[in-house]
Amino acid sequence: MSEIIVAFDGMKYDDVLPLAEALSGMGVLFKVNDLLDEYGVKIIESLKYFGGVMADPKLYDIPNTVKNRIKRYAAFKPDFITVHASGGIDMMRAAVDSCDSKILAVTVLTSLTEEECNINLGGPVKAKVLQFARNAVLAGVHGIVCSSQELKFLSEFRELKALIKVTPGIRPVWHLDPKDDQSRVTTPADAVDMGSDYLVIGRPIIKALNPVEAVRKTKKEIGKASIRNR
Ligand code: C5P
Repeated sequence: MSEIIVAFDGMKYDDVLPLAEALSGMGVLFKVNDLLDEYGVKIIESLKYFGGVMADPKLYDIPNTVKNRIKRYAAFKPDFITVHASGGIDMMRAAVDSCDSKILAVTVLTSLTEEECNINLGGPVKAKVLQFARNAVLAGVHGIVCSSQELKFLSEFRELKALIKVTPGIRPVWHLDPKDDQSRVTTPADAVDMGSDYLVIGRPIIKALNPVEAVRKTKKEIGKASIRNR
């Protein structure tokens, strides 16, 4: 069954550990990004006490620098660490070779529209996601981060089958915000139907009046979709 990764974005440190504690035992993982900037890699260790951790620095640099940075994160044994697939095969391989954590390669950000992808990355979303996913396989990366809207297309390529599929841009029907910055969004049930292994969900959970209830509702939706797909 697909799992939930809760993105602890823009949170106050004082609120983070109590929320992790409240969610512990619900089978969710925690994703840290800006918290790494303020509190450093040790936040991984604190969160691991309550569940799995995805360190999400989205590294993009020359291979040697990425190797050095990956080692800093890996010292605290997160389950996943992210790099940008656009950094190239050698860069991704350097990340894989320098730690025991699973490396996830971010393909095309879910906030990018088709037009922005063309302008910034030089091609349509599907073509770029496919190219980055293939490079990720060549580099020995464990999984990719993409929109679940791209999963059906990717499933046509056997060489990508073994990659773990992690999908942000998830919006449950009970959380629709017109001011949202995500462009390529999907409901949790649709993401599961499309083959997502891990659903990254931030604001719909952390901004909910009752985050525990929000996780419960999302898990129920995921559970129903998983049964349908059996
Ligand atoms: O609040 P929301 O559910 O939009 O959070 C999504 C999370 O997933 C954010 O932390 C964002 O950085 C991350 N992410 C994304 N799109 C990607 C890769 C990561 O939205 N392609």
